[in-house]
Amino acid sequence: MKKVLEIRNLNVEYDDKQILKNLSFSVNKGEFVAILGLSGAGKSTLLRSLNRLTPSSGEIYINGKDINILKDRKLKLFRRKIAFIFQDYNVIDNMYTIENVLSPFLAYKNIFQSLFSIYSREEYEMALKYIDKVALKEYAYTKVKYLSGGQKQRVAIAKAICQKPDLLLADEPISSLDEVNSKAIMDLFKTLNKKKKLTILMNLHDVTIAKKYSDKIMALKDGRLLFFKNTNEVSDDEIKNLYH
Ligand SMILES: Nc1ncnc2c1ncn2[C@@H]1O[C@H](COP(=O)(O)OP(=O)(O)OP(=O)(O)O)[C@@H](O)[C@H]1O
Ligand SMILES: [Mg+2]
Repeated sequence: MKKVLEIRNLNVEYDDKQILKNLSFSVNKGEFVAILGLSGAGKSTLLRSLNRLTPSSGEIYINGKDINILKDRKLKLFRRKIAFIFQDYNVIDNMYTIENVLSPFLAYKNIFQSLFSIYSREEYEMALKYIDKVALKEYAYTKVKYLSGGQKQRVAIAKAICQKPDLLLADEPISSLDEVNSKAIMDLFKTLNKKKKLTILMNLHDVTIAKKYSDKIMALKDGRLLFFKNTNEVSDDEIKNLYH
């Protein structure tokens, strides 16, 4: 089985306070991992350090590459294949929905094309397809600042998918969605996971949803790895202990 992610002795500190404590684990290609833990356990910090948004010590290998030594252009190239959905939606308010969703394609263009935001017909079609899949078709040409929190979150999701990532890091992507939209979005993630072998690490606060969709559950407690195992092997007692 191909390892997409391998972490050894990952530590993160903020002003002398240790937030992540010596995490070591690996994730295989095509696995859907749900990360659970109390508020403040370090879930967001973990995802951010995997994308080098938060400095850390230890080793992080993604597709066999040590990402801590990547710089500038190499770091940029590496990030093209990793999509990140932030807890507080990473969208640009003053742009239209469609522009936000198209923006990952800019990373593949020359300076002239990207300066004038020149997109191909295929790119437009793909962006519209995913805007439709997140149920925002009628808002494709609306500026994002006029959308609700849950709608912005769905713009961020369509944008992440348009990036055609190998690895999706999603920080509570359904936290502001209602039940119907949550299910539709989780089903969409699961389809991409199964059909495209997309590897997913997703922070979730809903245990039922985590159990329903994930292959494995990673439990973080106070910055430590409490357990990391197949979802169907996680007992109710283990979940209780995690949230205790
Ligand atoms: N930029 C920062 N500077 C200092 N401390 C931080 C910073 N970001 C996070 N922390 C601290 O790190 C710890 C873990 O935070 P993190 O955001 O990773 O938790 P979380 O598990 O994602 O919580 P939640 O479920 O509430 O999103 C918290 O104690 C938080 O106060
Ligand atoms: Mg968080």
